[in-house]
Order: sequence, then C-alpha cells, then structure tokens
Amino acid sequence: MATTTATAHPNIALVKYWGKADAPGNIPATPSLSITLDGFRTRTSVTPRTEAGSDHIRLNGEATKDKKIDGWLADLRSTFKIPPLNIDSDNNFPTASGLASSASGFAALICAINGACDLGLDAAAQSDWARRASASAARSVFEGFATLSGPEWQAQALAPAAHWPLRVVVAITSTATKATSSSVGMQASKASSPYFEAWTKQTPLDYGAAQNAVKSKDFMALAAVAEQSCLNMHALMLSTSPPLLYWQPATLACIQAVHELRANGVPVFFTIDAGPQLKAVCLPQAASQVEQRLSGVAGVLQTHQLGLGPGSAIAQ
Ligand code: PMV
Repeated sequence: MATTTATAHPNIALVKYWGKADAPGNIPATPSLSITLDGFRTRTSVTPRTEAGSDHIRLNGEATKDKKIDGWLADLRSTFKIPPLNIDSDNNFPTASGLASSASGFAALICAINGACDLGLDAAAQSDWARRASASAARSVFEGFATLSGPEWQAQALAPAAHWPLRVVVAITSTATKATSSSVGMQASKASSPYFEAWTKQTPLDYGAAQNAVKSKDFMALAAVAEQSCLNMHALMLSTSPPLLYWQPATLACIQAVHELRANGVPVFFTIDAGPQLKAVCLPQAASQVEQRLSGVAGVLQTHQLGLGPGSAIAQ
C-alpha cells in the first residue's frame, strides 16, 4: 500500500506546561504558549499493511517498542478503523533530551496516519489527538506562535512565524537521554511539590501576559514572563520529591551568559525544558552575537541557530 510521509518541528514553550488536570485525555493543568522551530525536524512515514499483525515501528533507523505509542495507537483504533502500520520516523536532532522530540514526533505521526488512512482530521482534531500522546505535541501542529488552553485543549494559532521572526540559539550541553521522562516527572511534581498549587495559579497570569507581549511584539515583556515561567517550572521540579534536576553546570553558565548579554543591551532571553539544553530566544540582529557567546561557554558541546517554523504537513 502507498506510503504517506509527514514532517513536523519541535516547539519550545515560553509559558510552560508541567502537570496534568484530574481529567481523562491527557489534559494539562495549566495553559501554555509556544514557538514552533524550523531546522530541527521529525520526518515520519506511515505505510498501512494488508496482512494482519502488529505495528512495526522504527525510530532513527532502529526497531522500537514503545508503550506510549502502542497505547496511543490503541486509543486511535477505538475511534477509527486502522490496519497494522509500518511506521518509520527519524529526527535530525537528539531524541528525548529536552529538545521536544516527542512534540514533533506525535504531530508528524498523526499527520502521516491521517493522510495514510484517510481519517479526515482537520488541524484542530489532529492537535487533539497529538495532545493525548504528549500535550506539547498539540502545539507543533501549528506554525509560529501557538497556544494550548481550555476548555477545548486543542492548540490554536496565535500568530504566524512571519508576525515576529525571532531567532533561537540552542546550546547543547549533553546528548544523553533524560533520566526522568516528562510524564513521570510531572506526576511526581503534582503529588509531592508544596508549590504545585501556586504554579497552577500563576501560570494563567503568565499566559495572558505572554499573549499580549507576542501580539504587541514587546520583546522585554516577553523576556520577563518567559524567564519567570521557566524558572517557576524548574523551581517546581526542584521541589519535587525525589527532586528533578535537569540542568548541567553548563546550563547555569549559559543562563549567566544570557543575563550578561542582556545587561549589555542585547535583546535575548533564555528558556529550558525537561533537559539540560538552553534555548536563547533573541531578535534577529542579535543571533550571531548570542551564538558566538554561548558556543564559548565551558561545557557547551554544540550550538544551533534556528528560526520560527511551519506546522506539521504532508511532505511533498
Ligand atoms: O508534553 P510533554 O509530556 O512532552 O511535556 C512537555 C513539558 C515541557 O516541555 C517541559 C514544557 C512544555 O510546555 O513544553
């Protein structure tokens, strides 16, 4: 049968999501706002098979068994008639190390399955299915600036990439797979951090402020709210029992380098997800200077300069 290939790009939250609501469907406890990147991408091919049997999944060229993918496919099959699938997915960036490979992965997967099996899902419905696997994946369906909030919990386009062509310098400080997955980590935070309730009260306020900053292209306002949201999330992680410390020494050194640049008038701020990589978001004219500074920080293995990118799509 014919193969359908889709691409999607990771997204980086500027207002973070960490923790789920007490509701079915993998609903976040808080709203989030993100930018979808270009450069880093997942490419996923799906081929329906005529003979019976299980799905065959290859990730970055290796046969994979993944409970999360299996459970999600079983859910999808409870709604749609889907034959056994050959799924072949690869990332051109490190997998499962705080670079949002699950976001681009599930956004590309639902897009490719939708095409291969004629499910007829529009972008909002694809976002809904992507969220059930990995809530951040709901946002990678859309280009540029995206939001994910209730009551529908399908991501929405806030502004296209062309609205405000920010640049992102990613400083890689380790390529090791993370020790605690996001879903396990956020369950532990909700169960044990004394700050979880405060986090759920603060994040909607940050979400509103970040939306305004994006609409009005107010870089300093976005810098303030994004760094605060990131540090609030990491404070929540640190206050989890047992503690979740995703940083390397070089992560902290990069934070200091970003603050030093900003103190010298360079328009840049940082954000960090559930991993040790730092993402420095800046205005286009500052990107080379930011990359040069971060690539000189001890412990930084590589840097990548990315722009804002497109949503998930069928590859031509
Ligand atoms: O959607 P998940 O399970 O991959 O969790 C994402 C969590 C963060 O990346 C840390 C924050 C976010 O909103 O993307």
